[in-house]
Amino acid sequence: GRVGVLMGGWSSERQVSLWSGEGVVEALRSRGVDVTAIDATRDNILRLREQRIDRVFNVLHGTGGEDGTVQAVLDLLGIAYTGSGVLASALAMDKLRTKRLWKAEGLPTPDYAWLRERADLDAAARRFGYPFIVKPSEEGSSVGVTKVKSAAQLDEAWQAALGEHGRAAMAERFVSGCALGHEFTCAILAGEALPTIRIEPDGEFYDYHAKYVSDATRYHCPSGLDAAFETRIRSICLQAFELIGARGWGRVDFMLDGDGQPWLIEVNLVPGMTAHSLVPMAARVQGMDYADLCWAVLETTLP
Ligand code: DAL
Ligand code: MG
Repeated sequence: GRVGVLMGGWSSERQVSLWSGEGVVEALRSRGVDVTAIDATRDNILRLREQRIDRVFNVLHGTGGEDGTVQAVLDLLGIAYTGSGVLASALAMDKLRTKRLWKAEGLPTPDYAWLRERADLDAAARRFGYPFIVKPSEEGSSVGVTKVKSAAQLDEAWQAALGEHGRAAMAERFVSGCALGHEFTCAILAGEALPTIRIEPDGEFYDYHAKYVSDATRYHCPSGLDAAFETRIRSICLQAFELIGARGWGRVDFMLDGDGQPWLIEVNLVPGMTAHSLVPMAARVQGMDYADLCWAVLETTLP
């Protein structure tokens, strides 16, 4: 069969998706897969069957491609695809509702507030104290995220979170205090959690620049957690992934506080596959190179 790599799309992460897609196409080709790159415009998606694509490797990040929309169309077209189905995708794209679900099931996630109007932001500042996080609840790659350090930044943070189109926004307590550093992630592949990665951004937090541009961001994998703790964290991340009904592959972001308590931040169900990305890094530590990883993700689409 023929594999289509769906990339690009119309979200704010379009460029990231093109970087991811180029890598995946080249890797699958090197493994002898009959593969074609597809810029995911509406027309191209509807024409997948005519192009005799019977399997899709989806690297569309964000709105449209990661939120259940494309998944529903592929279901309808009867085309197998990598990653999660409609429900888990839609849920994971909505950080606020994902957190509600985790919380209801007793999984640890930082306290949060839904920001419906500007006054909610002032209330959040009083409740969480500075610094705290303000972000769109349905974005990726840290687009629109601000670590707010004082009241002077509130207006700017509010505008950034809302964006041009008035996206839904939320605030979240900032987790810190762990001597090792506090930003971590855990890749999930085929029902297994891979080694955790610790991220040491050069700036305030792991933002868009630190993710894709900066060479000053430092990554540690293995992350330096002791073995028993590493095992426990991986199992919490796998639970968080499975609780929302996700499947195939993904990445769970979390933070550690001063007591070594993990706090779940979000799940990414079409994680980045760029040269700077995290899932390929964890796979490498597990003994899989980038092409092995692409192959393994593709294999998750087999019945
Ligand atoms: N949203 C980006 C692509 C990631 O999670 O890696
Ligand atoms: Mg994300």
